[in-house]
Amino acid sequence: MIPRAPWFGGDYNPEQWPREVWDDDIRLMQKAGVTVATVGVFSWAHLETADGEFDFEWLDAIIEKLHAVGIGVDLATATASPPPWLALAHPDILPVTADGVTLGVGSRQHYSPSSATYRRYAKRLVEKLVARYGHHPAVVAWHTNNEYGCHVSRCYSDESAVAFRAWLQEKYGTIAALNDAWGTAFWSQRYGSFDEVLPPRAMPSFPNPTQLLDFDRFSSDALLDLHRMEVEVIRAGSNAPITTNFMGLFEPLDYWKWAEQVDFVSDDFYPDPADESSVIVAAMHRDLMRSLGGGKPWMLMEQATSAVNWRTRNAPKSDSQYRLVSLQSVARGSDGLMHFQWRQSNRGAEKFHSGMVPHGGENTRVFRRVEAMGAELAGLADVMGTEVEAKVAIVLDWDSWWALRQAANPAQLDYRRTVFAWYRALWEKHVTVDFARPGADLSGYDLVVVPTLQVVTDAALAAVAEANAAGATVAVTYQSAILNDTLGVVDGGYLGSWQDLLGVRVEEFAPYAFPDQFENAPAGAPTTTIAGELSGTASGWSEIVHATDAEVKATFTEGIAAGGPAITRRSGEAPAWYIATQPEGELMGAIADALLADAGVTPLVATDEPRLEAVVRGGKLFLLNHSDEDATVSVGSTELQVAAGEAAILSVD
Ligand code: GLA
Repeated sequence: MIPRAPWFGGDYNPEQWPREVWDDDIRLMQKAGVTVATVGVFSWAHLETADGEFDFEWLDAIIEKLHAVGIGVDLATATASPPPWLALAHPDILPVTADGVTLGVGSRQHYSPSSATYRRYAKRLVEKLVARYGHHPAVVAWHTNNEYGCHVSRCYSDESAVAFRAWLQEKYGTIAALNDAWGTAFWSQRYGSFDEVLPPRAMPSFPNPTQLLDFDRFSSDALLDLHRMEVEVIRAGSNAPITTNFMGLFEPLDYWKWAEQVDFVSDDFYPDPADESSVIVAAMHRDLMRSLGGGKPWMLMEQATSAVNWRTRNAPKSDSQYRLVSLQSVARGSDGLMHFQWRQSNRGAEKFHSGMVPHGGENTRVFRRVEAMGAELAGLADVMGTEVEAKVAIVLDWDSWWALRQAANPAQLDYRRTVFAWYRALWEKHVTVDFARPGADLSGYDLVVVPTLQVVTDAALAAVAEANAAGATVAVTYQSAILNDTLGVVDGGYLGSWQDLLGVRVEEFAPYAFPDQFENAPAGAPTTTIAGELSGTASGWSEIVHATDAEVKATFTEGIAAGGPAITRRSGEAPAWYIATQPEGELMGAIADALLADAGVTPLVATDEPRLEAVVRGGKLFLLNHSDEDATVSVGSTELQVAAGEAAILSVD
């Protein structure tokens, strides 16, 4: 269990306020039921005012004030925003873009992940903090850096080039092995030694695809290495658990690898109150966080009480939206509700970002809502530390994400959207979903969905086949198992060994295209219809498929694939579906129903309201009605009403 759960609080930046405000902060924190404050996230310039000159007096004072009233401290290592003096004295810490632009000082996160100088200074700062607060009873957790990779996830500097070469040398051993893996016989790209290899900086045409993928992997690892450096320092001087705040489905970092290096996962997410699908995106992020931690509780480290400041137009959160997405986090495994930030700033770029204490102070809608949420969360203490059961898994993979976003592809496919389309269909069926790492053991799941897993390893192929052999229904979609992990076409042709699993062979891709270049086309992709038992609208993609050992459930109606299979089902040990297009709307719902029926997975509740979210955690059934309409919900033989925008929390066995 995460110490001091449930956490209720947020980022607290006392250095932005005169000391007379601090006592008011403490008073209001107690009023709101705050249990934990995240302190020090952007404090480097206040902790080390000049090279080697440290000032901990103010931090000592605020930690003591918090501790005196029983509020725990999630202590940040303050390394996310180096002070101006450091960049001035050592410009080599600054990151460089692919176009060769050096990013300057004056905002935040202006450091190169591969800068030895940045690393040396960051390490010294963390050592000082750990020496001082490593055994402080107020410190409930350590929070390394902040949102690694948020603004700068890849650096193309000369120093990064050196680090990239070292990473490649470690991976490939010899330049011959690299040439082979990267397929450098193409376009005269052969390298004579590692010294010739560069990051994929701005270049005339398509970069080598494997170079790009390896640079993505390296860049995720370079930041992870910084986190690990901090972890080592903390571990040597403190027993408190260590986390760092993730950012949901964040493309630059392979969170499967990162999650292995934290004591508990934590996440920041800001659903857009103006976008009705954002509660489903939020649910997806919560389920991902739980899955990253192997099912263990995680922490919602940042959310907003109302508006953010970084969208074009920043809608406020209604009372109901704030309550429902908060309860959603707890229902999906969070052991608390933390916010950015405690007191809304009155200076700087985030002064229009909501806080727990708004500019208007305590006599406001937002502060009253915060107080109510703190009380409601305290009432859910029994749920803390408990897990959430899911019988459905979606396989999620950063290599495939990175490969699909490369320009040289059959079509520009949005991996995040494709994964979300499947998540959404299952969410609307009131079914709980886990995410699974390719190659991970899938036993325990009754349904395994594999959307556009373009890159596969033998282990990934085997895990899905084994799950099917053990009785799980599987559904694989188009553009899966096309490439191996060096981006060569898979052995045996598209789908590799899944040709037998699925009973299909894929001959040729036929994405639907607008007459113009895809990127200049209207939003979305052209739609078509598919016909048969599962008929309806599909978008974006068709392909020539041969059903060698599978029943055809729908066929394409247009283009070179017309008349050929669009959806197939092989009935082996358990059903194995192949879906050769992107189903839309009702068709997606019908496919989800068919898959769930095959898998024997029953929804948690029965209701006609798709926006009624249902999740079970710790013996409680959370029913969250995100709709504008009241919902009638059947739970077993009991029927109840959940009013529009309301929640019901029932005890279940
Ligand atoms: C991120 C950061 C915070 C703050 C918020 C604003 O989550 O971690 O410091 O900038 O965004 O939404």
